[in-house]
Amino acid sequence: MTIKTETANGVARIEIARPEKKNAITVAMYSQLAEAIGVAHDDASVRAILIHGQPDIFTAGNDLEDFLKNPPREGMNAPVFKFMQALGLAEKPVIAAVNGAAVGIGTTMLMHCDFAYCADNAMFSMPFVSLGLCAEFASSLLVPLAAGYHKAAEKLLLADPISAEEALEMKIVNRILPPNEVLAYAQRQAARFNALPPNSVRETKRLMKSGWRTVVEKIIVDEATTFARMLQSAEAKEAFTAFFERRKPDFSKFS
Ligand code: COA
Repeated sequence: MTIKTETANGVARIEIARPEKKNAITVAMYSQLAEAIGVAHDDASVRAILIHGQPDIFTAGNDLEDFLKNPPREGMNAPVFKFMQALGLAEKPVIAAVNGAAVGIGTTMLMHCDFAYCADNAMFSMPFVSLGLCAEFASSLLVPLAAGYHKAAEKLLLADPISAEEALEMKIVNRILPPNEVLAYAQRQAARFNALPPNSVRETKRLMKSGWRTVVEKIIVDEATTFARMLQSAEAKEAFTAFFERRKPDFSKFS
């Protein structure tokens, strides 16, 4: 299993476990992630959901090979949308614990978690422009909202990586911890919901998100349409070919 789940002490733990491919996420794994969130939602004993990866990698983002073979053609029914929808609409608090790299969707998904904790070795990135693509799942709205437009523009337009310190400064993580303490700390934070009234937590979360929910949904559709179109572009083709040929892409011929 590349997505492992375990529920204990009121916390549904979801682990991305494909270390040999740096936790790159396939279509099948997106389905498993969506299902795991659904199961946690339906389980009355679960007070919070915790998502994490391996000690040295959160996720390398979309599995690029699988992604090219199985692009999200089914629109909002594609497994990646099902996962992000389950995450974005989760009524229970979702906490992320990040060690190592959180590439692409790995960073995007944090924008839909309630808290995120990371190791001092964490490295975030939204390399969509360097892949000839565009931002996804409302990150073009939520990253500027968290970090301010100019900082977000540097990271989204130049596709610059984001260190743990910058992620804290950009307010996309709550706290930086030593690598071997991140998961345990996130687990303790998640377990705190056992001592709180669950309806009050859920309603407060709903209210905190309701103000911009309509805007978020609108931008997700705009991004998805743009992303699907750009996936067919010559720029994306050059970027993906370069990745598999282990060379730098050459965008000089595009205007
Ligand atoms: N899709 C598919 N396979 C991936 C992958 C991805 N996104 N990221 C890593 N892998 C695979 C590599 O092809 C390699 O497979 P192999 O051993 O069969 O050759 C293996 O995972 C190890 O990757 P490697 O690049 O050697 O590890 P690293 O520690 O040097 O670097 C990363 C780790 C995450 C920085 C680097 O793998 C990376 O940049 N990956 C691509 C990230 C990306 O662009 N994601 C898409 C976002 S939309």
